[in-house]
Amino acid sequence: MAGFDIKRFLELAGAVKTDDLDWDACAKAGLTPHEARILRYMADTESHTILYMRDLLAGHSTRDPAITAFLSVWVYEELCHGRALSKVLEVCGYPEAEDHYTQVTTGSSMRELMEAVLSHGAAYLTPKFIAVHMTWGAINEAAAAVAYQRLEKLTANPVLATLCNRMARQERRHFSFYYHQAKARMEGDRVAQFLTYTAIKRFWTLVGSGVAGDDNLAFVAAHLFPDEASLAILDKAEKPIRDLPRLDWFHGVTEGTRAKAAEWRAANGEPAAWPAPPVLEPQAAAS
Ligand SMILES: [Fe+2]
Ligand SMILES: [Fe+2]
Repeated sequence: MAGFDIKRFLELAGAVKTDDLDWDACAKAGLTPHEARILRYMADTESHTILYMRDLLAGHSTRDPAITAFLSVWVYEELCHGRALSKVLEVCGYPEAEDHYTQVTTGSSMRELMEAVLSHGAAYLTPKFIAVHMTWGAINEAAAAVAYQRLEKLTANPVLATLCNRMARQERRHFSFYYHQAKARMEGDRVAQFLTYTAIKRFWTLVGSGVAGDDNLAFVAAHLFPDEASLAILDKAEKPIRDLPRLDWFHGVTEGTRAKAAEWRAANGEPAAWPAPPVLEPQAAAS
């Protein structure tokens, strides 16, 4: 597919690098309780990517070698994001309950289950439905990349900042795959455009709102995107979606985040301030 080199993607693919991170420094820098809640939300969403893949890898998608190769790698990279975030939480004194995965999985909403069934079924009816999945994926990856970019900027924990930077880069590569697939499948194909327009308009919601809980989503929105300047970064990231056919109206990530943040503020007041980054002690002069 023009515009995306799947071979190159597969060569670069792999678990986010963590073996060179200074975990003692991470523990020393620590996390605020509000950071810990944000990280738990992100880790839960990442660790449950396999559930989303179950819906994506259906029907005609399974016959496309680029899609199956991408999804095989994608799900592993996302799982590793979840594991890396869980490790940050653990070393900073926020370990996960043993049955956490089960608790979160059983928390999937009825709406999510219904969407999964409909989406899975539609994927068998027509290959044109792949455009819906690819657009959906592109939107979610764009949002994930910006969320890590924001956390990198806001956290006072330097190890977490490095990790966020690396994960954001992988999220942007994921975005690129989905986006190029979506574009190629929608251009000149009115059925694919109609299906995508209808599905996004009718069903799309912010990622993680089901698995990781609506309250947590509102909490994350209020803390990572507290003002217009931060929302503008999101809007810029989702601009390519508006360049796709029939999606020039789409500001879903930005507007959804703005609404969730407002909802949280209305119930709880202003979000907690982020701690300032640590001031490094001046190096002793060499004698
Ligand atoms: Fe991820
Ligand atoms: Fe991703």
